[in-house]
Amino acid sequence: MKKSMILLPIIFVAVLLANIWHAGEEAKGTRNYSDYEKPEACASCHIDIYRQWKRSMMSQSFTHHWDEIEYFDLAVKHSTKDPFFKPAADGCNGCHAPLSFLAGDVPPPRPHEGSRANEGVSCDICHTITGVHEEAVNFSWISQPGRTKYGAKPGLESPHHITAEKEIFRQTELCGSCHNEKNPFGIYVKSTQMEWLEGPYAKEDVKCFVCHMPKAKGKSAPMAVEGEVAQHVFLGAHKPSKLRGAIEISMHCLENEIPYDGVATIQVELFNAKAGHKIPTGSVEDRILWLDVTAVDEEGKTYHLPVDPKGFDGEEYTIASEELAYKDMAIPLGLENFAGVPRDGVPAGDRIFRMPYFDDQGVMTIMQWNTRSLGVDYRIGPRETKIETFTWELPDDIAAGKITVHAKLNYQKLVKPVADFLKVPEEEGEIVQMNEVSLEFEVYD
Ligand code: HEC
Ligand code: HEC
Ligand code: HEC
Ligand code: HEC
Ligand code: HEC
Repeated sequence: MKKSMILLPIIFVAVLLANIWHAGEEAKGTRNYSDYEKPEACASCHIDIYRQWKRSMMSQSFTHHWDEIEYFDLAVKHSTKDPFFKPAADGCNGCHAPLSFLAGDVPPPRPHEGSRANEGVSCDICHTITGVHEEAVNFSWISQPGRTKYGAKPGLESPHHITAEKEIFRQTELCGSCHNEKNPFGIYVKSTQMEWLEGPYAKEDVKCFVCHMPKAKGKSAPMAVEGEVAQHVFLGAHKPSKLRGAIEISMHCLENEIPYDGVATIQVELFNAKAGHKIPTGSVEDRILWLDVTAVDEEGKTYHLPVDPKGFDGEEYTIASEELAYKDMAIPLGLENFAGVPRDGVPAGDRIFRMPYFDDQGVMTIMQWNTRSLGVDYRIGPRETKIETFTWELPDDIAAGKITVHAKLNYQKLVKPVADFLKVPEEEGEIVQMNEVSLEFEVYD
């Protein structure tokens, strides 16, 4: 009797709160644009933080050229042809244009129309999050806009707003709510926070903030107390300086001197030294990381060395070939007899570190919402080392003398043939050299 008297009001309040605190899909159309302040309203005091955020991908999550192409030309068009995909296409905005999603304004106006969708993942989106609902996936954050701005620090004072400390600002679930994604077929098409959780950094309590919002001495506003301030830089794959050296490579040849009709055995070790998750992570369907090894003899003749296959299931997707893929782009683009575009666009025989996404025909896709299954996961995990071997039977025409072998580890945000086909600006298909190493050996007659 006594127990139920205490429990009933608690249940009542819980039901009431559950109705007000919408998260994920349910939050669509529950707010107005005017419930949220513009980033410019924060800029006058949080000067450096604003500038950092403005330069980061967070502020471009809706306006960025490739996002616009994929959302409007592929996702929205696909959902018009097949209404099954409508919730998924609306859901893009839950992470890329959260304000429009909350306001129920989907699809939002195109970026050139200058609507508030362009604010992307804004200050007020993050700093009005009070928690994450159940699983951290598919924009499952709870938004409570208003005078109170939530953060990681207790007891701060501001003339513009109330500040309050919230545990979620010290938890990776805040990031995971947008950096893990499950598509309409229940496939995890993004799992950065889950990869972190399984890896060594979670055990050591080294969270996303340490590497993506590093602390520096200073003040977050002119009237602030001096202390360690979280820098809102959010560097990732769009910053070559973040990519360079993230994977360390070393190479050796088992023999120093080889007869001209002999065999060179070259080994390359690749160590994910810097990322708290796999490389590549995030938009894995787009990203390509590959190891390209070439040798040059005394006469300047260049030879390309294909990697030795290891024989695991699905390995064919990790060795570059001339095969075609991405045929499902024909559906939204309304193309007939479309054979696809080259799957890799990198020298055949190179090792590719990736996880392929497959459509319902078992063909590789970059349309993550249309993914029915995932292939072999041959990415490099946090602090993992992979070893690749190149057994090279020296060619007949090789010149005796010094041979220089050069290994390059290259990264591309979007597989080049797709970038070219969809006319995505150059920058997205640019090759970033993450690392390189060389060695020499002698060939004798
Ligand atoms: C008039 C100046 C001013 C404006 C405008 C302003 N703030 Fe602040 N804000 C402050 C000051 C001062 C602090 C306290 C900083 C300190 O002492 O470290 C603060 C602290 C914060 C914190 C830290 C809270 C915590 O507990 O860790 C957040 C988050 C924040 N502001 C967000 C915002 C957002 C979002 C906006 C725009 C919608 C904004 N602020 C606009 C002055 C301002
Ligand atoms: C130990 C440092 C470290 C930690 C911890 C870490 N990261 Fe990273 N992150 C990196 C490095 C280095 C890169 C650049 C290499 C790359 O793009 O894969 C990166 C890249 C990224 C990218 C860009 C990926 C792409 O392909 O565009 C995202 C997004 C990201 N991290 C999110 C997170 C999130 C979310 C967490 C926490 C769950 C996290 N990171 C934890 C170091 C870290
Ligand atoms: C992706 C979510 C996200 C966005 C977007 C974001 N912040 Fe933050 N902000 C955080 C997190 C998380 C922390 C706490 C980090 C920590 O302490 O490690 C933080 C900390 C802060 C602090 C306290 C800094 C300190 O360490 O004293 C201020 C002030 C702040 N943010 C203002 C802003 C403003 C202004 C913007 C927009 C220009 C903005 N934030 C955009 C997530 C975000
Ligand atoms: C409201 C959703 C949302 C939240 C919360 C969020 N992110 Fe992001 N983040 C995005 C989106 C969307 C992008 C991709 C922008 C683009 O390229 O279109 C992104 C991009 C990034 C990038 C840049 C990747 C690159 O390729 O350069 C990093 C790094 C990153 N986020 C880290 C974090 C961290 C750390 C947190 C937690 C403090 C966090 N994010 C929280 C939505 C979010
Ligand atoms: C659960 C949150 C979430 C949802 C839903 C989501 N995205 Fe993303 N998207 C992200 C994050 C986070 C990144 C950045 C990942 C990274 O850096 O690799 C991203 C990256 C991208 C990129 C690559 C950006 C680049 O510059 O390389 C494109 C394009 C994109 N998303 C389009 C879409 C489309 C279209 C949809 C809907 C079908 C969608 N996204 C749904 C969170 C989401």
